[in-house]
Amino acid sequence: MKTKDVIIACDFGSAEECLKFLDKFEGAERPFVKIGMELFYAAGPEIVKEIKRRGHPIFLDLKCHDIPNTVKKTMSVLSRLDVDMCNLHAAGTIEMMTAAVEGLTRPDGTRPLLIAVTQLTSTSEERMREQLLIDAPIGEVVIKYAMNAEKAGLDGVVCSPLEAGIVKRACGDKFLTITPGVRFADGEVGDQVRVTTPAKARSLGSDYIVVGRPITAADDPVAAYRRCVAEFLGE
Ligand code: C5P
Repeated sequence: MKTKDVIIACDFGSAEECLKFLDKFEGAERPFVKIGMELFYAAGPEIVKEIKRRGHPIFLDLKCHDIPNTVKKTMSVLSRLDVDMCNLHAAGTIEMMTAAVEGLTRPDGTRPLLIAVTQLTSTSEERMREQLLIDAPIGEVVIKYAMNAEKAGLDGVVCSPLEAGIVKRACGDKFLTITPGVRFADGEVGDQVRVTTPAKARSLGSDYIVVGRPITAADDPVAAYRRCVAEFLGE
């Protein structure tokens, strides 16, 4: 697994669709793959094992959020799937995140990277204030959640590329920033609102960019993936 990389969001509704997509990458490269709720609930642990068997690093994006004991036990199950990265909601508190780290850690002391979702980029400051009664500016909330995650021993956060710099300043350069909302300069924006290009995301401090439709819906997904890697890593 590379320390900086492009992660393809494999948002497919079935194992068949996902594997047909990954078949296109039969060459040397085995892209880092994100399996989210849609694919996992449709295809279960078997799709995780199959993608692992094909040699792809995996980010299992299930965004766990429950009482500490339940999350601890869930993480222990996910840890056995041998993925490279998984995540939870920082809103579950430091106690829940600490329990998650314990559950995720294997008997030999190793574990997948554990990443916290701060505030979803679909949550606006106005909705946070009116519906969740959180009065602080959204940037402050993201920083506080990131610092809680760091305190609990997590490895980084999912955030907007525009927040990557402030997260690094608050939690240190080694604390990872995983950032969705990436589009090519000449591409469709779709339903993402605050977007940046791969090169801009890198310069803002993103360690891993999560890219879905600009690659999965491209006429030539392999070429789109290679372009994304070239722009993000400068390779
Ligand atoms: O297709 P697109 O590039 O917009 O996909 C982005 C991926 O990142 C999706 O899987 C989406 O669920 C995920 N994501 C996001 N914004 C967040 C957290 C995750 O777009 N705040």
